[in-house]
Amino acid sequence: MSFLSATLSRVKPSPTIAVTTLAQELKAAGRDVIGLGAGEPDFDTPQNIKDAAVRAIAEGKTKYTAPDGIPELKQAICDKFARENGLSYVPAQVSVGTGGKQTLYNALMATLNPGDEVIIPAPYWVSYPDMVLLAGGTPVAVAASPEANYKLTAEQLEAAITPKTKWLIFNSPSNPTGAGYTAAELKTLTDVLMRHPHVWVMTDDMYEHLAYDDFEFATPVQIEPGLYERTLTCNGVSKAYAMTGWRIGYAAGPVELINAMRKIQSQSTSNPCSVSQWAAVEALNGPQDFLAENNKLFLRRRNLVVEMLSAIDGITCPVPEGAFYVYPTINGLIGKTTPDGTVMENDEIFAKKLLEDTGVAVVFGAAFGLSPAFRVSYATSDENLKEACTRIQAFCADLS
Ligand SMILES: Cc1ncc(COP(=O)(O)O)c(C=O)c1O
Repeated sequence: MSFLSATLSRVKPSPTIAVTTLAQELKAAGRDVIGLGAGEPDFDTPQNIKDAAVRAIAEGKTKYTAPDGIPELKQAICDKFARENGLSYVPAQVSVGTGGKQTLYNALMATLNPGDEVIIPAPYWVSYPDMVLLAGGTPVAVAASPEANYKLTAEQLEAAITPKTKWLIFNSPSNPTGAGYTAAELKTLTDVLMRHPHVWVMTDDMYEHLAYDDFEFATPVQIEPGLYERTLTCNGVSKAYAMTGWRIGYAAGPVELINAMRKIQSQSTSNPCSVSQWAAVEALNGPQDFLAENNKLFLRRRNLVVEMLSAIDGITCPVPEGAFYVYPTINGLIGKTTPDGTVMENDEIFAKKLLEDTGVAVVFGAAFGLSPAFRVSYATSDENLKEACTRIQAFCADLS
């Protein structure tokens, strides 16, 4: 009998972290690697946020806190929801965790029983299905097509709901596709949900502030207030404020669920880092003008990458509304062969060979539940992006 648990055998390590690690190893070994795998902004945490953390340390705010967040941060989160989303929450409805990942995980751990199904639109963030499995539930992936710009349709949602469905995990703008649902698109989904009162919504709004062109972010409860009592609205400071290493995420929802999440957290990790919580207070309450500046930069990079990848025969690259990812499909390359005889049987082989031959690290689509495709993170310099896309163009041109 294995010493390790049966639960562990159901999950796999994060493929995005694996790609990033492999690219770092190759770089350390002297290879000329351009990593397009990372899910984090390439710029630094704003200075006012760092200063708030330094102040917190100097003032001795370095002890245990309440397990799911200091009152000041919970209030800042309530203010953020009111200001930016028109949502009314009180601090007792808020949970702060060690990154957005932990709040999502707490919620699944607090609610899933064996047999409970969780609908996850694909392509999905790699951790959703594995977190559901760890919590003992059953992930139900529903593939959104590239033709629909990777957005789930109302018909698909309706068809996926069963009496066992407990949650829909909704993520807009999305990792890995960058797809963002307009208010009208979202309404078609919330209309379906209103017909199925046993289904709860876990909305992961992590990329809310990374939106381009005239796309306007909307979150489900904003569109359908009737879902308020069965929605967990999740967000965090990692992506918008370039605070991935600080590990602060948060969620707001019904008090009973928030209390259950606190119970899990208090018996596992206790409170999120006290210093990071004070930094997050500043992130949410402080100046927000740098967000628009960063978005200008990201928009330029998105356009650059979409243009260069779309120019490749065999690749189709939908134009995403947000986040810092594009998700091109490679149907036209499958079955082709590299000059040294490697057949592109699937997107995992494509990504591996691309990394080996050109030093460009991307994440293969199978990791996100929709193939054949790959994910590019454009959270890196214009020079890197130009060089990487030029190498991808040359690699694809050599396939026959
Ligand atoms: C869609 C999505 N949700 C949640 C997270 C987790 O964020 P955090 O780093 O705050 O745990 C990520 C990080 O990649 C993400 O892409």
